Amino acid sequence: MTDGLSGRRIGLLGATGSIGLPLGEALEGAGADVVRFSRGGTGEGGEWRSSESKIDLSGLDAVINLAGEPVAQRWSAGVKKRIKESRAGLSRRLVEALEGLPEGERPGCLISASAVGYYGSRGEEELRETVGAGDDYLAEVCRDWEAEAGKAEIFGMRVVFLRTGIVLGKGGEAWKRLSRVFRLGLGGVLGNGRQWMPWIHMEDEVAAILFLLQSETVEGAVNLSSPTPMRNRDFTRCLAGALRRPAFLPVPGWALRLVFGEFAGALLGSARALPEVLLKEGYVFRYGTLEEALEELCD
Ligand SMILES: NC(=O)c1ccc[n+]([C@@H]2O[C@H](COP(=O)([O-])OP(=O)(O)OC[C@H]3O[C@@H](n4cnc5c(N)ncnc54)[C@H](OP(=O)(O)O)[C@@H]3O)[C@@H](O)[C@H]2O)c1
Repeated sequence: MTDGLSGRRIGLLGATGSIGLPLGEALEGAGADVVRFSRGGTGEGGEWRSSESKIDLSGLDAVINLAGEPVAQRWSAGVKKRIKESRAGLSRRLVEALEGLPEGERPGCLISASAVGYYGSRGEEELRETVGAGDDYLAEVCRDWEAEAGKAEIFGMRVVFLRTGIVLGKGGEAWKRLSRVFRLGLGGVLGNGRQWMPWIHMEDEVAAILFLLQSETVEGAVNLSSPTPMRNRDFTRCLAGALRRPAFLPVPGWALRLVFGEFAGALLGSARALPEVLLKEGYVFRYGTLEEALEELCD
């Protein structure tokens, strides 16, 4: 269902990223006119605007913001500052840019990235969108990010927060890293392996964003993760099986902390997220199980 996108002008921040690239193509494939934003200014094809300093959001029907400093890296004090500033800070600048537009000329909708990290590490608890925020660093980042983006509601805009899980796609960083390690036979259970991992196939990530863009009613938080989160140990077994490689080297928590510092907490944390809003709205997942996703990814 993409009829509703034909001729619509969609602003896309984070257009050069792993989700932004296929999303931009999918939007254009659905007939939308995509205005891409980047810190680098211009790129190839279509219209490009700068996401530095003053952001020009004029002439757009909707804005999707996926920009942000990568989270999967060792967190120094400087990196942590950039992770936060590139999300809450950029969202603040977006709202200022919206405020600067004449009434009646603002986009009708803002779709803002967020992450399942919003919930923090919650053990066995099922994490539907109504559950409150966690209390670790990533939860704080996501809470501030959503709070800043949510201010666009003041202008009567529909605002959606994409609480995304680990995105598995051939062009995505997570899959590239995971498949490289497992293909070398070096994959293994992280920590005790009981932690829940919310995952989503890239095709579903992109299709769900198109679905939410066309909805006239969905607003607020939406979990973008498959209906079947997996425990790390089961995820590891499935992935090693699909790649026909052993995965007998468990990676203890202390080793992860040594290599990744505080970011190790995100790898060892448990988030049993469930996509309640998407399912209630009638979104049908293309890859509902990890086995189905791995069949496509390992092809
Ligand atoms: N991929 C996942 O598994 C996953 C999971 C959960 C949540 N998310 C969230 O979804 C969003 C999109 O994910 P992605 O994987 O597509 O991200 P990505 O590839 O890491 O980056 C997206 C874009 O953000 C911009 N960017 C990078 N560092 C920045 C900085 N310091 N300040 C401002 N902009 C910066 C870059 O665009 P320019 O260089 O062109 O400016 C980049 O192309 C992110 O906010 C991410 O946190 C992703």
